[in-house]
Amino acid sequence: MTRRKKCSFSLCSVWILVVFFSLAGVGLVKADEKSTKRSAADIEAGKKIFQAKGCNACHTIGQGTLSGPDLKGVLERRSKSWLLSWLKDPDAAFAKKDPIAMEMLGKFFTKMPNLALSDDEIGKVLSYIDETSKESLKKEKKK
Ligand code: HEC
Repeated sequence: MTRRKKCSFSLCSVWILVVFFSLAGVGLVKADEKSTKRSAADIEAGKKIFQAKGCNACHTIGQGTLSGPDLKGVLERRSKSWLLSWLKDPDAAFAKKDPIAMEMLGKFFTKMPNLALSDDEIGKVLSYIDETSKESLKKEKKK
């Protein structure tokens, strides 16, 4: 009797796990689609932010180094989470002696200022940088 009970209990928890993980899986796929799918409107908005916040005074995307690094391919060379925290607060990265930030600081004379971007602006500006990087790579291949 007790054995049977135990058995159905574990069977039940297996089901709960199956249902849970498949729902979590669907959620992850959705979230991923959302983060990789970027609309033309987001890219355009990102371009405006890049100009309005003055990113273009220190950075190009595929046109070479200014007082800051060329941002071409930055989404490939850095992780998403690193980029998010960097753009949110570059000073925090220096304060905790983030190795990537410290390495860049050794190469560039300027320190990137905190431009008080919202999460939404960060997402858009990264879409713009990524899109422009890809366009620039495509042009290079054609040459
Ligand atoms: C005053 C110049 C300046 C401005 C304005 C500026 N940056 Fe920077 N940025 C830098 C410098 C310099 C670095 C290299 C790290 C350091 O030494 O601070 C950097 C690093 C970066 C990196 C990391 C690059 C890599 O290779 O990992 C990203 C991404 C970035 N900036 C994006 C932006 C964006 C987006 C804006 C506008 C919202 C912006 N920056 C505005 C100077 C600037």
